[in-house]
Amino acid sequence: MTTRIFSGMRPSGKLHLGNYLGAIKNWIALQDAPDTAQCVFAAVDLHAITTPYDPATFQQNVTNVLLDYLAAGVDPKKSLLIRQSRVPQHTELMWLLSTISPVGWLERLPNWREKVEQVQSMGDRGASYQNNLSLLSYPVLMAADILLYKANLVPIGDDQLPHIELTNEVGAKFNHLFGDTFPNVKPFIAAGARIMSLQDPTKKMSKTGDDGIALTDTPDEVRGKIKRATTDSGREVTFDETAKPGISNLLTIFSTLSGKTVGELERDYAGKSYGDFKGDLAEVVVGFLAPFQQRRAELAADPATLARILTESEEKARIIASENLAEVHRAMGL
Ligand code: AMP
Ligand code: TRP
Repeated sequence: MTTRIFSGMRPSGKLHLGNYLGAIKNWIALQDAPDTAQCVFAAVDLHAITTPYDPATFQQNVTNVLLDYLAAGVDPKKSLLIRQSRVPQHTELMWLLSTISPVGWLERLPNWREKVEQVQSMGDRGASYQNNLSLLSYPVLMAADILLYKANLVPIGDDQLPHIELTNEVGAKFNHLFGDTFPNVKPFIAAGARIMSLQDPTKKMSKTGDDGIALTDTPDEVRGKIKRATTDSGREVTFDETAKPGISNLLTIFSTLSGKTVGELERDYAGKSYGDFKGDLAEVVVGFLAPFQQRRAELAADPATLARILTESEEKARIIASENLAEVHRAMGL
């Protein structure tokens, strides 16, 4: 089967290890897979502005996300690297899909309720966003992102699964009403890669708050954060998500970065202390981030290259998008 990939992240803060292990790592693997015919990776800036943000620093956030993608290994020879707002067909398709998206499908989504709670906790400015249409229609834009390129595989973290289900419901409804147009979309989820907060291992690592390891953290910041990471009672380095969520999360990070299985790590650390384990993990993370940060610094020092990659990618993306959108127009009788 020919695979067409689409994925994106909101440029709403520094990317962290959860973003990398939960999503970007798979983007890189998929862009090199033999069946992959098309890859589009986006900074979804139109999604980012659905929660309070500062227009003065926003472009810097967009650039930061794009640099993170490239430094992590997104290869512009194989993949298109785009800003969502520069391919206007995304918003047009969103409107067309919204004409067949029942509000009830959107109100049912747990992600929407979480977003409302999140903005409610952001002071007056945040509270002013809580009833906005865009918070509710966010998933319709996400469906449009994916369906615009007829993508059939979307590498994401598991928190995004309800959005993929909605994409398929809307796509199937479109096909039923207007004729077969959109493919079925499969999520691609990394095994064991829901990375939790280092402070509260029952919550996922996120861009807001100081609980995550940013891909741009210095070695000393990484060492400090891992040292302070919440661990559990007991002393054994063993994986048990219920009884030992802190150590289990650190084992997941260690395992996914080092390639060792959790079982091997448990054997390596049998009889050793949490301190020994955390010290070694810190060095694994620092060792992983060093080449990433070096590539990122080189790219950041050369803004012309990023600008060229974006211009070329966005031009190609607009061609694919306008062809697919023309098909949608014909199907809908527009
Ligand atoms: P976000 O940071 O919410 O814009 O998410 C961007 C992508 O990273 C999505 O595919 C998420 O599912 C994924 N992601 C975000 N946080 C985590 C996490 N803590 N663990 C694993 N994946 C994550
Ligand atoms: N909603 C996603 C998130 O918060 C970001 C996103 C927008 C996305 N459009 C997408 C992810 C399309 C995958 C495909 O992480």
